[in-house]
Amino acid sequence: TTPLTLLGIESSCDDTAAAVVRGTDILSSVVHTQTALHADFGGVVPEIAARAHAEKLDYCVEQALDDAGLRLEQLDGIAVTSGPGLIGGVLSGVMCAKGLAAATGLPLVGVNHLAGHALTPRLTDQLDYPYLMLLVSGGHCQFLIVQGHDSYQRIGGTIDDAPGEAFDKTARILGLPQPGGPSVEKAAQTGDAARFDLPRPLLHQPGCDMSFSGLKTAMLRARDRVIAEKGGLTAQDQADLSAGFQAAVSDILIEKTRRALAIYLALQPSCPAFAVAGGVAANSAIRQGLQALCAERGVQCIAPPLRLCTDNAAMIAYAGIERMQHGETDDMTLSARPRWPL
Ligand code: KG4
Ligand code: ZN
Repeated sequence: TTPLTLLGIESSCDDTAAAVVRGTDILSSVVHTQTALHADFGGVVPEIAARAHAEKLDYCVEQALDDAGLRLEQLDGIAVTSGPGLIGGVLSGVMCAKGLAAATGLPLVGVNHLAGHALTPRLTDQLDYPYLMLLVSGGHCQFLIVQGHDSYQRIGGTIDDAPGEAFDKTARILGLPQPGGPSVEKAAQTGDAARFDLPRPLLHQPGCDMSFSGLKTAMLRARDRVIAEKGGLTAQDQADLSAGFQAAVSDILIEKTRRALAIYLALQPSCPAFAVAGGVAANSAIRQGLQALCAERGVQCIAPPLRLCTDNAAMIAYAGIERMQHGETDDMTLSARPRWPL
């Protein structure tokens, strides 16, 4: 059978993206990020995001088709993120996809954004089901046992904030630039992680749930104590606080992954595999910790390239391909769902 070729469209958060994927070949992938638009607001502003998506979608789609060297008529379908996410952005994407489907008569395939992330290791590494997945970004943090294209077992996750959000907040309170992940990681390289005693909430609780909000509060207090003592933060203080924070997040993620692996391995998969995705997976201390843990357990460890770990439309096109292979498509009643658990 010839592989299906789909256009994917993604606009659920602050990236406008379009991509063309044939089977597991990424023919093109365009991502237009809105980071600069939201920089002054300390977070994504939904109204600004929706407007920017509406403005950039057509351009991203045209660019993705151009880069792939294909015309719309040469595709087999149009996949679009139909949730979960910011409703205005998701709506913009769904309307764009419906317009293209109506104009061409191509099948329309709605995709769950989280399924897009969760299926990425199949796109990049042709991984077989079932595998264990850690999705860890600015908005998500959960462990999934991925059993099929529409079969996910969530075995734990954050009960409050996502780690990426905690990295961003930590950078803000330390006076480091946004996005916080890379700047905290850089500062941590010259820091002493043991200088500050920071909490690891839920670390010794049973199960795979995680919590990061207490750590955020502890960071604020630790910073305030240094400022009260010395009147300000030196570069070394920033480095030590960053290193302490990164070590705490890393300890939590690795300990909980150890437990998640135990649950997954009890299913006796023939080729056990663990995959990580999301912006926080870019962190080399966290990546290395996860890799070491997997090596110790004899589990294949997959960390897709960062451009496919963070929000993109190739993962949406690919998840659409898996749906279409199962004969699943949508019609013009496809709606945008702000909440949509896997
Ligand atoms: O997956 P992503 O691009 O978007 C969503 O949140 O959905 O993830 C972005 C998050 C940000 O919070 C950013 O600070 C974090 O990933 N991040 C990192 C690193 N690079 C990006 N966190 C820790 N270490 C990094 N090197
Ligand atoms: Zn995402």
